[in-house]
Order: sequence, then C-alpha cells, then structure tokens
Amino acid sequence: MGAVEYRNLGRTGLRVSTVSFGAWAIGGTWGPVDDTESLAALHRAVELGVNFFDTADVYGDGRSEKLLARLRSEHTEPIYVATKAGRRLERQSVAGYSRQNLARWIERSLKNLKTDVLDLLQLHCPPTDLYYAPEVFGILDDFVEKGVIRAYGVSVERVEEALKAIEYPNVQSVQIIFNLFRQRPAELFFAEAARRNVGILARLPLASGLLAGKLAADTRFTNDDHRTFNRHGEAFDRGETFSGLDYELGLELVAELKKLVPPGVPMSAWAMRWILTNRAVSCVIPGAKRAAQVEENVKASDLAPIPAADLAAIDALYRTRVRPLVHQYW
Ligand SMILES: NC(=O)c1ccc[n+]([C@@H]2O[C@H](COP(=O)([O-])OP(=O)(O)OC[C@H]3O[C@@H](n4cnc5c(N)ncnc54)[C@H](OP(=O)(O)O)[C@@H]3O)[C@@H](O)[C@H]2O)c1
Repeated sequence: MGAVEYRNLGRTGLRVSTVSFGAWAIGGTWGPVDDTESLAALHRAVELGVNFFDTADVYGDGRSEKLLARLRSEHTEPIYVATKAGRRLERQSVAGYSRQNLARWIERSLKNLKTDVLDLLQLHCPPTDLYYAPEVFGILDDFVEKGVIRAYGVSVERVEEALKAIEYPNVQSVQIIFNLFRQRPAELFFAEAARRNVGILARLPLASGLLAGKLAADTRFTNDDHRTFNRHGEAFDRGETFSGLDYELGLELVAELKKLVPPGVPMSAWAMRWILTNRAVSCVIPGAKRAAQVEENVKASDLAPIPAADLAAIDALYRTRVRPLVHQYW
C-alpha cells in the first residue's frame, strides 16, 4: 500500500489526507450496516493514514458520530472529525438556524463525539437564503470565540451557494459534490476558493457507488437505501443520489469510462485520482462501509497522473453525454 498524500484544508491549519472518509453510510440510509464491520473499516482507514472523517449529527441519528468517538478513543494519532448541523430541523428555514438551535446541535455533537471542541462544523445544506443572512455567520463566529468549535464551513448543493458562502471571511471550508459526472464546480468556484484559501471537501466522489464500477442493471438496493427511495429526489435533493443521473445511463457511462482505467487499478481509486488532479480540492470523502473498500479507495493517493489523452476523452464524454443533462441544475 503506497503513501497517503496530505493537503492543507484551507486556512484551518489541518493537513488532511487527500483520501478521507465519508461516514454517512456507516450511520444509515444505505441499507443495513453492522457496527463491527464499520469499525473495522474506520480502523483500517486510520492504519492507512486517513486522518479526516466527515459525518453529521443526523447520520443514523448520531450513530455515525458515536462510532467516530469510539475510533478516536482507540487511537493516539490525531483524527479530525468534521460534523454538520441543521438537518435536525423538521422543516428547513433560515430562522431555524438560530443561536439557540445551533447551540443545542453543537452540544449534542460534542456529546456524541465525546469531545469539548468540534474540529469543523459545517452547515448541512441549508436553504439558499441562509447565505443572505450574515447574522448566522456572526453566531458561528461567537461559537468559535467561545471555543466549542475550532472552525466552521458549509456543505452546499449549488455552486452559487458556494460562491456566496465564501464571501464570509470566516467560512473555512466548502463541501460540494464533485466527480466525473459533476464537473461544474471546477469552472469558477474552485478558482475563487483557491484565491481565498478555502478548503474543499469533494463529496459523492463515486456518484453513490456508480463510479466504483461494480454496480449493474440487476443490482438490488434495499428499501432503506436512498438508491432505492431517492432516485427522483423523493426524500432529499435528487443530485445526492447517483449525482442526479438516471441509473441506467450512469451504468452506460461507467462502461465507457472503464475503458480508460489502467489494468490492476480499482476504478474507485482512478475516479478519485481524477478529482485530486484539481489542486483546489483538499480531499475526497468516499463513503465506505467495509475495510476492503477503504483499501481500494486510498490507492487514489499514489496513482500516477491520468494521461492528457485520457483527460481529453473524459472531458469529451462529459461535454457530450453528461453536461446537457445536469450541468445547469446545481
Ligand atoms: N448533504 C451533505 O452534506 C452530504 C450529502 C451526501 C454525502 N455527504 C458526505 O459525503 C460522503 C460521500 O458521499 P456518498 O457516501 O453519498 O457517496 P460516494 O462516496 O460517492 O459513494 C458511497 C458508496 O460507494 C460505495 N463504495 C465506496 N467505496 C467503494 C469501493 N471501493 N468499491 C465499491 N463500492 C464502493 C459504497 O456503496 P455500497 O458498498 O453500498 O455499494 C458506498 O456507500 C458521505 O459519506 C458523507 O460524509 C454529505
């Protein structure tokens, strides 16, 4: 297993593994999970040099945060956890992001994570209007001053939200969907984020598993897996499932891309190598449930760069077959 690469997470002072860990799936909403297996995946990640984990208070209603607390208690090396707040609201509204609610959510995450301070708190895909409410960012500044959060950032659905968010000087990170099927963030946002030295967490790096190249037309997902119940955005933003692409089309495109993956290289690692080609990205946060998946994913860190001709082929595929369907939605 090669060496894991680290990059600065914006101005936070954290150096994070370029291949980090998305801890949604181990909480729930992705079919059945087994904590013993999840912990094995988490431990394997740490052994391989992964030092940054993305979670949220709502993932398994705290189950994911609690697993991360356990992971931290069993290691001595620094393990940074980014959590999120805002999705405990029954209905999303700007008013819901009040001082009182934020304090309650932070308190709960501190408890779940068994810590006195959160490394990074991200607002969890709040409504677009929130970015026009400077008072919320003022409240977050107060929590930093109080010492209960070290830094804060946002997780966004749309590029426009990301651009607006980084106008606030203390937004230290933006989490956004970026993968072979979602390329618009690279057009304008990445340059702006790099100019302001804002960290970028690329989520859905595998387009909900599609880009790992192991799904097929007859793959069955359980009823409690969002790949069954959110295919058309029935429960939350459509773009969060398969990156907003129709599943069958996604499989066709994956078959095309597979032709470019060098022999012996896991497609997941190759797909994330493509993401990391973009230096503005601090890390990818693939959602893994099993140690074997982690082992494949971390290989992205030390793969050779993708040759220019292959980058051009990827670009052509995106331009002709993906862009017309999704580019302007997010
Ligand atoms: N609103 C938000 O802020 C938000 C929304 C979505 C995600 N996120 C964060 O981003 C992270 C990543 O996004 P995501 O989990 O939605 O999507 P993803 O990383 O694109 O896909 C995750 C799925 O890919 C499969 N997978 C992972 N590694 C694999 C491998 N080596 N081989 C085969 N399959 C593999 C697993 O599915 P199976 O094994 O079940 O097939 C896994 O559940 C989340 O965990 C979460 O931390 C945040």
